[in-house]
Amino acid sequence: MSDVMIRAENVSMTFRTRTGELGAVEDFSLQVDRGEVVCIVGASGCGKSTLLNMVAGFLRPTAGRILLEGKEITAVEPRCGMIFQNYALFPWMTVRGNVAFGPRLRGLSKKECNRKAQHWIERVGLQGFEQAYPGELSGGMQQRVALCRALANEPEVLLCDEPFAALDAMTRQIMQQELLRIVQDSAKTVLFITHSIDEALILSDRLVVMSARPGRVKAVYNNDLPRPRKLDVQLTDRFLKLKRQVWDLVQEEVMGAMVLPVNTT
Ligand SMILES: Nc1ncnc2c1ncn2[C@@H]1O[C@H](COP(=O)(O)OP(=O)(O)OP(=O)(O)O)[C@@H](O)[C@H]1O
Ligand SMILES: [Mg+2]
Repeated sequence: MSDVMIRAENVSMTFRTRTGELGAVEDFSLQVDRGEVVCIVGASGCGKSTLLNMVAGFLRPTAGRILLEGKEITAVEPRCGMIFQNYALFPWMTVRGNVAFGPRLRGLSKKECNRKAQHWIERVGLQGFEQAYPGELSGGMQQRVALCRALANEPEVLLCDEPFAALDAMTRQIMQQELLRIVQDSAKTVLFITHSIDEALILSDRLVVMSARPGRVKAVYNNDLPRPRKLDVQLTDRFLKLKRQVWDLVQEEVMGAMVLPVNTT
């Protein structure tokens, strides 16, 4: 079996909008190996979610192609589990119903679905809330349900679209550690989008900086910070040096993309 899990080859996505064509992603190439955690950072609107949606098979590239284990992705890909920018839970289903939804779709027995759901619910500390509805949970709890729901499908690839962005700083750190543990235990391949350079440095094996829209690969860093990574890695010289380098590049793109008002007075 190939060690390359995801290969994006010269991928572009141009949307047709009411006002004309909009290039969201352009000539984007990247390879992600099996078991690798790759984080993508980039300015708002640079095409990160669009890219992830193409890897998940929700969108077809307008040019180039994306391969999963060597085969082109042409439809929604069951080997990929997605955690969305907003939690995207079913509000009419309980926590257990949300988490068991994927396994039920795959035709597993009710008992097996509930067993899987319970395993993940306990794994993220939500026992006691199995019968709660998403509207009765805090943002952090909802995002934990979203993580459970993706994992209960046993995907080989986890696609994460800023999953922790809306969480408070403390819950976010706990979720990062939890994700690292899960990834380490299960050797999942992870493509993780974030606005936070700290988060990208804590989680990733490699870090990709995207250019402003249309999104291209601007730079790729090998993240050689030692594992397991605890929070105090953020205090090391190596961390701060990498953060500075990445920040300089991201800032360049953010500033370049901003149209600032001209002062005419
Ligand atoms: N379905 C769509 N139709 C038209 N334009 C779209 C569509 N989806 C995204 N876009 C445009 O593509 C560009 C990239 O959007 P995308 O959501 O991928 O950005 P992003 O990098 O994820 O931003 P953010 O960090 O704010 O989430 C934006 O200019 C957006 O307006
Ligand atoms: Mg996005």
